[in-house]
Amino acid sequence: MIGTGYVGLTTGACFAHLGHAVVCADIDVDKVQRLRAGDVPIHEAGLAELVAEGLESGRLSFVVGGANAVCEADYVYLCVPTPQGDDGSVDLDYLKAAAAEIGTHVRPGAVVVNKSTVPVGSTLLVEQAMGRSDIAVVSNPEFLREGSAIADFLNPDRVVIGSDDPAAADLVAALHAGIGAPVMITDPASAETTKYAANAFLATKLSFVNTIAAVCEAVGADVGDVLAAMGCDERIGKEFLRPGPGWGGSCLPKDAAAIISIAHGAGYDFSLMRGVLEANDEQFKRVVGKVASVVSLPGATIGLLGLAFKAGTDDTRNSPALEVAKLLLARGAKVRAYDPAVAAVDIDGIIVVDDPYAATEAAEVLVVATEWDEFSRLDLDKIAESMAARHVVDARNIMDREALLSRGFSYQGIGRN
Ligand code: UDX
Repeated sequence: MIGTGYVGLTTGACFAHLGHAVVCADIDVDKVQRLRAGDVPIHEAGLAELVAEGLESGRLSFVVGGANAVCEADYVYLCVPTPQGDDGSVDLDYLKAAAAEIGTHVRPGAVVVNKSTVPVGSTLLVEQAMGRSDIAVVSNPEFLREGSAIADFLNPDRVVIGSDDPAAADLVAALHAGIGAPVMITDPASAETTKYAANAFLATKLSFVNTIAAVCEAVGADVGDVLAAMGCDERIGKEFLRPGPGWGGSCLPKDAAAIISIAHGAGYDFSLMRGVLEANDEQFKRVVGKVASVVSLPGATIGLLGLAFKAGTDDTRNSPALEVAKLLLARGAKVRAYDPAVAAVDIDGIIVVDDPYAATEAAEVLVVATEWDEFSRLDLDKIAESMAARHVVDARNIMDREALLSRGFSYQGIGRN
C-alpha cells in the first residue's frame, strides 16, 4: 500500500482485517513511526481498532518509502494524493514519483492497482513512470466517505475495476471475494471516469438541494417537507438530500473542478458543472448574508459551531465552515469557533475554543456550520445567557427552532422560514 492517507490506511487496515498480509509505505518518517506504535493520525471511526488488530496479528506493518514495501507484494496499491492544480487540473506529481520509485522493485507477475483518483490515461502514465511494460496496471477507484470509510470498504455498493488485461482484472476482483458487493469490470477509461462522474453527480445533487432551499425561502416553502416528499421517488432517493452551508471536503470540490478541466481538455465545455460550483460559492455567501441580515458585521463577534467539513471527521479541507468563517472575517467580524474534533485551524483571526459555550460567549450571532449531533442538544438557556444578542443561523437545520424562538432568539435555517 503506497500512501497512508485516508484511502491507503483504510484499505490496508481492511485488507489486513480480511486476512491478507499488508505492508503500508509512506514518505513521512514521523507518520510511519506513529503508525508502528498504533497511533492513527486521523479521526476515522473504527480505524485505530483495525490498525491495532493488524499490528497485533502481524498482518499489518509500516515502512518508510514505497520501494521497501513492494518487493514481495502480489498486489501494489497506489493511494497517493492527486491534489487540484492551480488551474483546476489534476496534479499527478505524487503518483508519478511513487510509480517511479517502485518501478524496479515490483516483482514480475505482480499487479499494480491505481486507487488514487486520476484522469483517463493514468494507468498508462503509471506504467510509463514505472518503466515496466511487463506489469499490469489496473484502475480500482475508491468511493469511501470519511467518517464511514471502514464500513464503506467492507460493504461497498460496488467494486469497479478497469483493465485491458482480463487476467489482471480477475486477480484484483479475487481480492474482493469476501466482500459480497457487485464487482464491475470495465476498461481503464471507464473506471477512471466513473469516479469523477460519481462525485460530480453527488456535488450536483447537493448544489441542487441548496438552490431548491433558496427557492423555498423565496416562496415560503419548507425545504425539509419538499425534500422528504421528493426523496420518496426512488429515482431521486432519500440520501444526500440535506441542505447545508455548501459542500466541501477533500474529494467533491477537487473532483468537480477536475471533471470540468478534463472535459475542457477533451474539447467539451461542462457548463452544467461550472454552475454547480458557482452555486456552492453562492451558498457560502448566502449563509454570511443571513448573519449580516441581523447584525452589522464590522466588529461583531460571531460564534461558529463546527469547523470540520462534515460531522464524524476532523478534516477541515475545503470545509464550508471555514469558507463561511473567511467571508465573515473579510467583512470585519470576529469569529470564535468550536468543533469537537478540531483543536486548531490555520486561519488568522479564527479563535478556536475548547467548549461550545465558550464559542457563544459575547457572540451576537451563533452560526451552526457542521452537523455534529451535540450541537442539537446544547443547553439553550445557557447560550441565551452568554450571548450578547440572540440570533442563530442554523446552516445545517439541526437546532430546535421552536425552543430557540421561545427564548427570544431570531432563527434562520436553510430553506425554512
Ligand atoms: C465523498 C463521496 O461521498 C465519496 O463517495 C468519495 O469517495 C469521496 O468524496 P466525503 O468527502 O467523505 O465523500 O464526504 P461526503 O459525505 O460525500 O460529504 C461531502 C460534503 O457534502 C460535506 O461537506 C457534507 O457536509 C456535504 N453534504 C453531504 C451535505 O451538505 N448534505 C448531504 O446530504 C450530504
